[in-house]
Amino acid sequence: MGWGRREHVALFHASANRDPEVFDSPDTFDITRDPNPHLGFGGGGPHFCLGKSLAILEMDLLFAAIADTMPDIQLAGEPRRLRSAWLNGIKEMRVRYGGG
Ligand code: HEM
Repeated sequence: MGWGRREHVALFHASANRDPEVFDSPDTFDITRDPNPHLGFGGGGPHFCLGKSLAILEMDLLFAAIADTMPDIQLAGEPRRLRSAWLNGIKEMRVRYGGG
């Protein structure tokens, strides 16, 4: 007997937030996007991220601190992206600030 024909399914977490049917210019980094129905914390189901509010507060504090202490921060090289079919991310991003 056995399982017969096998099929493989892959979930691409990074794809949902780049859905052209939902977002205009889905590949453009735009922090002013409004509305922004992203699925970064889940899709509103029973396992929706419990830490969403804490995560947003932490990011808010982090970027405010960077803006306050490194107002001249700029890219110092091409970012190295994470190679993953599972997560989208940046592995290394060199910056310069403080006239350095
Ligand atoms: C930027 C930061 C974060 C991102 C992008 C994120 C993203 C996610 C995602 C996508 C899920 C799955 C949602 C689903 O399946 O519907 C999740 C679940 C969860 N997150 Fe987060 N998360 C973040 C930070 C945090 C923090 C700071 C905490 C706790 C302090 C936390 C606690 C949890 C827990 C407990 C779950 C599982 C909820 C469940 O299974 O019922 N997360 N998160």
